[in-house]
Amino acid sequence: MKNIKLLDKISQGMYVLTTENGGCIVDAVSQISFGDTPLIAVSVMKKNNTNTLMKDNTRFAISILGKSVNPEIIKTFGFNSMRDINKFEKIETTEIDGVKIINETLGYMICEKVDAIDNDTHTLFIGKVVEADLLSDDEEMTYAYYQEHKEELLKVTTEKGQTAWICTVCGYIYYGDEVPDDYKCPICKVGKEMFKKK
Ligand SMILES: Cc1cc2nc3c(=O)[nH]c(=O)nc-3n(C[C@H](O)[C@H](O)[C@H](O)COP(=O)(O)O)c2cc1C
Repeated sequence: MKNIKLLDKISQGMYVLTTENGGCIVDAVSQISFGDTPLIAVSVMKKNNTNTLMKDNTRFAISILGKSVNPEIIKTFGFNSMRDINKFEKIETTEIDGVKIINETLGYMICEKVDAIDNDTHTLFIGKVVEADLLSDDEEMTYAYYQEHKEELLKVTTEKGQTAWICTVCGYIYYGDEVPDDYKCPICKVGKEMFKKK
């Protein structure tokens, strides 16, 4: 692969996908139809706890993040697994039609799952939008904006005298003097070459 960062040129947004008992940050969301049957698609990594939950549940919600969102939401939902922490204890949510949405969202949609398509690493979940509302006039955070501002958003600092290395693809931070040669980002799986010294 000559330059995986080319994928950043496809415009995406920043969202919190939630379903009963969990959820995670996603950028891979697309509107696939409008009109009487508005459909959206969201791609979820199989390794994520959210993937199992999405397979078990029939409803999910997408909360759209604005540019002024509290970065703790991104850290909590994007760099942690519900297998290890209760994300809903750290971030305020409101239940709508049986699914939790993030309070600090510029708007949300509630979807009824209509299909799930598996490939090797991801499942593409397709949902019919059954409810949607706009809650604030904050400008939406695009994935490109996140990429450009992730260091300040995530406040990358050195810890205990160790060097911080930031994954230029997703923003995950590895602390250590050197990134090991065989290291793979636990979030997006890219190798050492995609980490930049802070
Ligand atoms: C900027 C950003 C974008 C992400 N986009 C996706 C995505 O589109 N699909 C996905 O499955 N995971 C995505 N992730 C990774 C998940 O949010 C992350 O692996 C999370 O910790 C999974 O939590 P879970 O195990 O509770 O499901 C993204 C993370 C970040 C930081």
